[in-house]
Amino acid sequence: MKLAFIGAGKMATAIAQGLIDANCFGKSNIMASDPSMISQQSFSTTVGVQCIDDNDATIDQGDVIVLAVKPQNIENVFSNLISPLNSKLLISIIAGCTLKNLSALTQSKRIIRVMPNTPAMVGKGTAVFACGDDVTKSDIELVTKIFSTVGIVKQLPEEYLDIVTAVSGSGPAYVFEFIQAWVDAAVANELDPELSLELILQTVSGAVEMIHKKMGTPDELRNAVTSPGGTTEAGLNVLKEHHFREIIQSVINSAKQRSIELGND
Ligand SMILES: NC(=O)c1ccc[n+]([C@@H]2O[C@H](COP(=O)([O-])OP(=O)(O)OC[C@H]3O[C@@H](n4cnc5c(N)ncnc54)[C@H](OP(=O)(O)O)[C@@H]3O)[C@@H](O)[C@H]2O)c1
Repeated sequence: MKLAFIGAGKMATAIAQGLIDANCFGKSNIMASDPSMISQQSFSTTVGVQCIDDNDATIDQGDVIVLAVKPQNIENVFSNLISPLNSKLLISIIAGCTLKNLSALTQSKRIIRVMPNTPAMVGKGTAVFACGDDVTKSDIELVTKIFSTVGIVKQLPEEYLDIVTAVSGSGPAYVFEFIQAWVDAAVANELDPELSLELILQTVSGAVEMIHKKMGTPDELRNAVTSPGGTTEAGLNVLKEHHFREIIQSVINSAKQRSIELGND
């Protein structure tokens, strides 16, 4: 079976590399098309598979098509396409692009819409998918197998994909922002930048591991390290005064709203 990526940017590269590393697909069974020379070169170098600038030829040769272009480029892909899709399975990772929109563009209902995230690049991704009407049981097994090579995979009704986009699709950026702010605060107090990052990364991964090991809920674990009148409480009080939880709620609501808007464009 041949897998054809339309758009060979960051996500396509991460997924293709995961598939090869996991021996899920051989290099000869992966192909990609992208107009950007930079993406072509980066995909070829990282994945070890040639990337061309020809969506028609790529779709023609693929048995399963992975749509990995930005939302604003999807119409362009199908308006310029000559090759028939011939009911091939389409897997779309395009944020906010609904099954209905994809179906209108492709005249197909054999479509799986997936919301992945960038930690797929290190095999720690999340992927949540929803299925079009003509998707088969073996299509579901295939998409599960593909995304399992780069992280965890869940199936949900499509109505949940906007909130999933806000929570895990965009999630890595919130973590990066939080960690950068934390490093900046340490450095502002004259701690070495490299050491700051090392301490913070170990703190984050250690805290995450404690939750993974079911040592308590996040609330319980926070309470366990917060002595009355202590340093942690002093820090947490600032988060509370500045409405940290309400801010996070607004972040998620705003990202979800943007995902809904993209779907309506
Ligand atoms: N990155 C994330 O965190 C993330 C998470 C979840 C989902 N997604 C979704 O994944 C998709 C890809 O994201 P990405 O981060 O991999 O984007 P990206 O790195 O920008 O890759 C998209 C690639 O598609 C190329 N492209 C543009 N028009 C094309 C066309 N007509 N035919 C073929 N290729 C075309 C782009 O070339 P140009 O640069 O020349 O336009 C670019 O190289 C997006 O729809 C995004 O919503 C991304």
